[in-house]
Amino acid sequence: MTNSQNAMWGGRFAEGPDAIMEAINASIGFDRRLAAQDIRGSRAHAAMLAAQGIITDSDAAAIREGLLTVLSEIEAGTFRFSTALEDIHMNVEARLKDLIGEPAGRLHTARSRNDQVATDFRLWVRDQCDAAVEGLQALQRALVTQAEAGADWVMPGFTHLQTAQPVTWGHHMLAYVEMLGRDVGRFADARARMNECPLGAAALAGTSFPIDRGATAAALGFDRPCANSLDAVSDRDFALEFLSAASICAVHLSRFAEELVIWSSAQFRFVVLSDRFSTGSSIMPQKKNPDAAELIRAKIGRVLGAQVALFTVMKGLPLTYSKDMQEDKEQLFDAADTLMLSLAAMEGMVCDMSANREALESAAASGFSTATDLADWLVRELGLPFREAHHVTGSLVALAEGKGCDLPDLTLDEMRGVHAGIREAVFEVLGVRNSVASRASYGGTAPEQVRAQAARWKEVLG
Ligand code: ARG
Repeated sequence: MTNSQNAMWGGRFAEGPDAIMEAINASIGFDRRLAAQDIRGSRAHAAMLAAQGIITDSDAAAIREGLLTVLSEIEAGTFRFSTALEDIHMNVEARLKDLIGEPAGRLHTARSRNDQVATDFRLWVRDQCDAAVEGLQALQRALVTQAEAGADWVMPGFTHLQTAQPVTWGHHMLAYVEMLGRDVGRFADARARMNECPLGAAALAGTSFPIDRGATAAALGFDRPCANSLDAVSDRDFALEFLSAASICAVHLSRFAEELVIWSSAQFRFVVLSDRFSTGSSIMPQKKNPDAAELIRAKIGRVLGAQVALFTVMKGLPLTYSKDMQEDKEQLFDAADTLMLSLAAMEGMVCDMSANREALESAAASGFSTATDLADWLVRELGLPFREAHHVTGSLVALAEGKGCDLPDLTLDEMRGVHAGIREAVFEVLGVRNSVASRASYGGTAPEQVRAQAARWKEVLG
């Protein structure tokens, strides 16, 4: 065998690869991130081979020791990765051979890189599901703290970004807690579904060696082995599920980020973001910009891009493994990094931000936000059909708008001019505090509801 030939399959090849072939083929530039998973998988495999009498105990011991050395070299940054060795699997195995010699060649018995990479990648994505849940729950806790503090702070609720009805700050915070709670559920579901072990599916058809797939699955923390070897090496739906959950989560973060950008503007002044999560301008000394929020708003592009890319890679691939599937990793790594960073940045911003209660409340009172309360009063107290009450209220809004004032600024006489039955008591429902207190239906914005929901979430989040 000449030096230019591949150590793994040189037997069949007369020539080594072209440099361009090597460049397009290699994945070591990114799949080195699977090193710890790869070594963990190999250790489980070697132990099982020995337990089944397929390799000797002394070979297994040499392999185990050697793999630990390789891992420590990688962790210490002294490992020399080689592009010629294509990927993490062959880099590790080649180094193992340097270290322990002949027994290294027995590690790949009853295994293929196809089940190996599927196993490594599942282990990696599984960890990311756990990390996402952790990041999400930390953010939820920060939001619940905000919600408890501001359970009765009144702010405008919007539809169409137009003032709609008064709501409470706590209610708005808890809306995101609900969304993020569903994200937690999606990552947990994806994790449970992906927790089957491909190892032992070998290249695609299983193996003639008397392996114990249950043992390797258990050693790696999987619930069970994958039941079909073709499926085990050829599907990447677990990665697609992770990316789908990540994309939905990133959409939630992006929406909240947009609100923070709007709220922190000089026009709204609803929140003050901390210096720690803002930046200045190189030319305008007065500026404090919500860059973290803007970046979180934008990062969905990368996450969704990764999802679209992998869907596109997988679409139309025949069973089982095709090299196309090597393209599953790089963008998922980036999407996962992006998501974790976004979650951490959002948590930091939420912990630090302070709401401007006066600005929230005065904005809540503007824009005729209690018009619905007025219409409801006309129904309740005067027995008007809702449609008529809507019409009367509309006329009162038009009257106030013409005068350049808000609804509570109209006099009783002016109101009676529109509907003679209106009484002094109407003014009680025109105040924003009474308005939110009255919306005590389950899931409504009343402070008592908000406190109950915040308490429930505190239980859930522990
Ligand atoms: N680097 C490859 C990947 O990421 C490992 C599997 C290679 N298998 C093969 N039959 N060429 O998919």
